Amino acid sequence: MKLDSVKLVYFSPTRTTKQVLEGITQGLAASDVTSVDLTLPEADPAETVVLDADLVVIGAPVYGGRIPPTAMQRLRSVRGQDTPAILVAVYGNRAFEDALLELSDWAQAVGFVPVAGGAFIGEHSYNTSSTPIAPGRPDAADLARAVDFGSAVRQRLKGVTTSAELVPVSLPGNRPYRKLHKSGPRAPVTHADLCTLCGRCAEVCPTGAITVDDAVVTVAEDCILCCACVKVCPTDARVMEHERVLQTADWLSTEHGDRKEPEVFIYG
Ligand SMILES: Cc1cc2nc3c(=O)[nH]c(=O)nc-3n(C[C@H](O)[C@H](O)[C@H](O)COP(=O)(O)O)c2cc1C
Ligand code: SF4
Ligand code: SF4
Repeated sequence: MKLDSVKLVYFSPTRTTKQVLEGITQGLAASDVTSVDLTLPEADPAETVVLDADLVVIGAPVYGGRIPPTAMQRLRSVRGQDTPAILVAVYGNRAFEDALLELSDWAQAVGFVPVAGGAFIGEHSYNTSSTPIAPGRPDAADLARAVDFGSAVRQRLKGVTTSAELVPVSLPGNRPYRKLHKSGPRAPVTHADLCTLCGRCAEVCPTGAITVDDAVVTVAEDCILCCACVKVCPTDARVMEHERVLQTADWLSTEHGDRKEPEVFIYG
């Protein structure tokens, strides 16, 4: 089966998912690679697009063992036509639980055939120097693994002549999926004395929760705690100080400090 054109589709506030998808794509060695970035609010589905590609690689982070609802909402804008898909969940070294299964159920319902799936590790959104949680990941070893995974899928699809031969890969997870937990409104804060009003935090916010004018204003009810604003802030003015989040970060750093490795699944 030809794999000339590949489309990457992702929701990736802190860009670890994007990096993993790019690694996989290197391994696929396609000549025509395009991306559909669903991270920013502009990506909210106005209309549905059938993706025209030989293969799509679809990725999202894991939030609470699931695909974040904002990502699921944005994914509603894409469809396949018996299109083979590689599904990727990127998690912060705790667990990916039902995320890959959730992605697979959705993908099959909208016209993709998930021929492979991968769970990779990315630096946790709550990572800080005092609470390290998978800092710097995906690192060189993770990205090499992503490239190998892409090549292995390419090899697997080489002998396939039509999409009718494709079989969905079985991916780990449980139904019903883990319950989504809605926390009370919480968001990072801005230290005005360090803030230069550069606006970078507002530009990267996936929910449009931030506006920057004479001051940085955040609608906490819209915040999904992705920490993209914290990581992008050039002066460290934007910080996560919510007590519950700091406790979680501390727990993750202590209890989930052991390095986890990527897991991949290919059909057949
Ligand atoms: C609200 C929230 C919930 C999260 N839940 C999990 C989780 O259940 N398991 C885990 O290992 N990592 C979890 N993470 C960490 C992210 O999966 C991880 O940082 C990922 O690399 C982010 O992807 P991105 O860089 O593409 O945004 C969570 C992060 C946030 C913000
Ligand atoms: S990115 Fe940092 S410095 Fe720039 S406006 Fe936001 S909080 Fe201020
Ligand atoms: S305000 Fe919330 S949703 Fe927006 S970038 Fe910051 S952490 Fe993410």
